Amino acid sequence: MRHARAFAIAGLAVLTAAAVAYAQSTTAPLEEEAPVEAAPLVTQSVSEILADTTWGDPENGAALAATCAACHGMDGKSTVRDIYPSMGGQSERYMAHQLALFKTGERQSPIMEPFAQMLSGQEMRDVGAYYAQQETDTGLADDAEVTEGPYAGMKFYEIGQQLYRGGDPERGIPACMACHGPTGAGNPGPAYPQLSGQPSWYAAQRLQEYRTGDTRREDPALFNIMADIAADLTDEEIQALASYMEGLHPRPDAATRAAMAEVAAAQPATPAPAPAPAADGEAADATEEAGTAGDDAGATADGAAEPAAEAAEPAEAVEQQ
Ligand code: HEC
Ligand code: HEC
Repeated sequence: MRHARAFAIAGLAVLTAAAVAYAQSTTAPLEEEAPVEAAPLVTQSVSEILADTTWGDPENGAALAATCAACHGMDGKSTVRDIYPSMGGQSERYMAHQLALFKTGERQSPIMEPFAQMLSGQEMRDVGAYYAQQETDTGLADDAEVTEGPYAGMKFYEIGQQLYRGGDPERGIPACMACHGPTGAGNPGPAYPQLSGQPSWYAAQRLQEYRTGDTRREDPALFNIMADIAADLTDEEIQALASYMEGLHPRPDAATRAAMAEVAAAQPATPAPAPAPAADGEAADATEEAGTAGDDAGATADGAAEPAAEAAEPAEAVEQQ
């Protein structure tokens, strides 16, 4: 495949060169239909772009991220959540791969293409490594009650939660968490992207793209994994999944929660209602952080809370594939 493409491109270049030579060596006007197609800007395939690269250097990535910060934030959090996706905590390999796809035009985005054009394969991995180290963005899930349709009576995010955790065996839809993890953190090994905290419009747009099943990718294997999964999702389910994932965020696991409770219990009981902030330490901070979104929308906390333990198995099973 790749060779075929390389030859095709080489062929184009020869044709172009021949046409130019022809133009210079004759006074006869060139025919209208002369095959003088402009050679594509990027003549490398995705795997050629990423060949011979090594694990990204986050320091160099930080310098490169200055260009991306206007939209994706220096901290990886979208500067305008309604327009730009977030990058913090996303996997190095997944980001580099998507950047290479933007560069070849196999993934189309008029906004991203010029930024991807500027990067070499190694720089894609460097900037990926930098953003992988940043904190994951957080959002809120929609817990409005659904009044009509097959899911009437459920909260909106619960439609997404149900599919995310359990899939729909009848329609052959697998649980999303099998690959993307119970908290949406993804799996950097096989480059399953992180999904948590991403603005819901963006996740929904991606699921719609997958659902069409159309791709320009030369190697559509990864696209097709998602295309098969999204094929039967309804609009409502896509929006609900996107909303659920937006509110999904990591929580301390059961062992950490127990340890935190122990620390809290060991504190001398204070009669004053407001405990001194200095004495709380890191454990208390963590609790607070995990609770933030949950307090605003029951959606978020519930989403990520329990499945941590029960999901360990599906995640492992996938890794072995
Ligand atoms: C002008 C705003 C803007 C700038 C600057 C920008 N991006 Fe983007 N980026 C976007 C938008 C919008 C998308 C969503 C594209 C789509 O799918 O439609 C995106 C998508 C991406 C994605 C795909 C994310 C995913 O989850 O699949 C990556 C990776 C990315 N950008 C990396 C970068 C890097 C690295 C830079 C800097 C070199 C950069 N971007 C600069 C706007 C921007
Ligand atoms: C078998 C593993 C697997 C399962 C199960 C799975 N995904 Fe994915 N998902 C992937 C892979 C691989 C990609 C990257 C595809 C690509 O390169 O475009 C992806 C990408 C995505 C993206 C795009 C992320 C981004 O940053 O642009 C979204 C959104 C997504 N998946 C949602 C879901 C949802 C919702 C479900 C459950 C209904 C699900 N996935 C189930 C493997 C999986």
